Amino acid sequence: MTYIGTCRNRIRIVWIIEIRRRSLCVTLNYNLAYWGSMDVSSIRKDFPTIRNGDAVYLDSACQSLKPDSVIEKMLEYYNEYPACGGRSVHSMATRVSMGVDETREKLAKFFGSKNENDFVFTKNCTEGMNIVARGFGLKKGDTVLTTDVEHNSNHVQWLEMAKDIGIRRRYCRTSRCGEFDIEEFKNVMDRDVKLVSMGHSSNVTGCTVPIKEVTEIAHDYGAAVLVDGAQAAPHMPVDVVDMDVDFYSASIHKMLGPSGVGFLYGKSERLEKLRPLIYGGGIVGLATYDTVKISPAPERFEAGLENYSGIIGASAAIDYLEKVGMRGIADQETYLQTLIQKGLEDIEEITLVGPEDPSKRGGIFSFNIKGLNPHDVAMMLDNMDTILVRSGMHCAHPFFVSRNINGCVRASVYLYNDDEDIDRFVAALKKIVAIFSKRTKIH
Ligand SMILES: Cc1ncc(COP(=O)(O)O)c(C=O)c1O
Repeated sequence: MTYIGTCRNRIRIVWIIEIRRRSLCVTLNYNLAYWGSMDVSSIRKDFPTIRNGDAVYLDSACQSLKPDSVIEKMLEYYNEYPACGGRSVHSMATRVSMGVDETREKLAKFFGSKNENDFVFTKNCTEGMNIVARGFGLKKGDTVLTTDVEHNSNHVQWLEMAKDIGIRRRYCRTSRCGEFDIEEFKNVMDRDVKLVSMGHSSNVTGCTVPIKEVTEIAHDYGAAVLVDGAQAAPHMPVDVVDMDVDFYSASIHKMLGPSGVGFLYGKSERLEKLRPLIYGGGIVGLATYDTVKISPAPERFEAGLENYSGIIGASAAIDYLEKVGMRGIADQETYLQTLIQKGLEDIEEITLVGPEDPSKRGGIFSFNIKGLNPHDVAMMLDNMDTILVRSGMHCAHPFFVSRNINGCVRASVYLYNDDEDIDRFVAALKKIVAIFSKRTKIH
């Protein structure tokens, strides 16, 4: 296996493989020691798609599978109290309102906050990012700083706002394999930057940004910090208060929760000043023909009827993640990444997109097979052994364009993936390589 941007010649590859072999032993021993504390085989029984099917699901970075408890909670809403929340005072509607409040309280606790009103329900991470972009009050000439590996949900709105109101954009460059450099960040920060907007973890490389350090520096320059937490919130412990971020947006459908549910966290004083993106019913204290008094947060950002079954189902997802433990999930993902790496380390035709150290990739293994189109590889994996991965540019086009890479295949693991999943994935990849290259033997 070769590494993009980190080792180009054979001597370096051999050297790195040797180092990897040694550190793999340490990592494997550590993780195997840990392994016993998380019961993956019983976790797998909680997921109907796993229990009732034979697919290897390696697309959790896109959307996670859902456990029974989440599906049951949503069904309970539809079967027993499918009313609207926050409006009618009858008992069925009150049950809905209480369900929504309960999820909000759980979210706050889960992410380290004591104030549930700092958590706004959105339909996804993208919506939260756009609420802040449009509502923060950026003016012509204000600079927004991102990294150069952002998902389009933290990129396209800034392009549009540069056109619409003349904001300026600045990038903090990462290494070729996407690793963040805090020194580079210090170099590009100045007082023109009004908002630092960064992905916590990349959906392409899995690399994680040290947000707490970033926030400290950004605040010293008077800039606010918005974090795209779509790929971090499902995979590691996240404490928004400890990191001192101003805003944090994520998708609950990547965290075992129902499709179309996300949240935006904002410090109370920030949410108070943020203009809503959408106006209408549910966010109004009183409206006359000529005036309107908008409600305080979080309601002011939740206009119109909401995805109640999704929000209520999300509370079961948070319960589930809390029960399993986020530290354990992060460790398990590193373990699985290590297994993949070990399984593929002798295959030169596979090029890794991202850092070579499995512990730096979160749940993400992005790669290419030399000479093959990533979509073809994804289709072959599905056709050969129902291994479900994603292929393409993963809504992070600037990363690929700047590195002259024509997309990649992404296998993303989560708490329900086990050794057998990885064995099947590795075996299928070896088969594909063997079919398309005479040089590789199938082990
Ligand atoms: C890093 C990152 N940010 C944002 C998003 C957007 O998430 P959503 O489509 O749920 O809004 C994704 C989705 O994959 C992502 O990976």
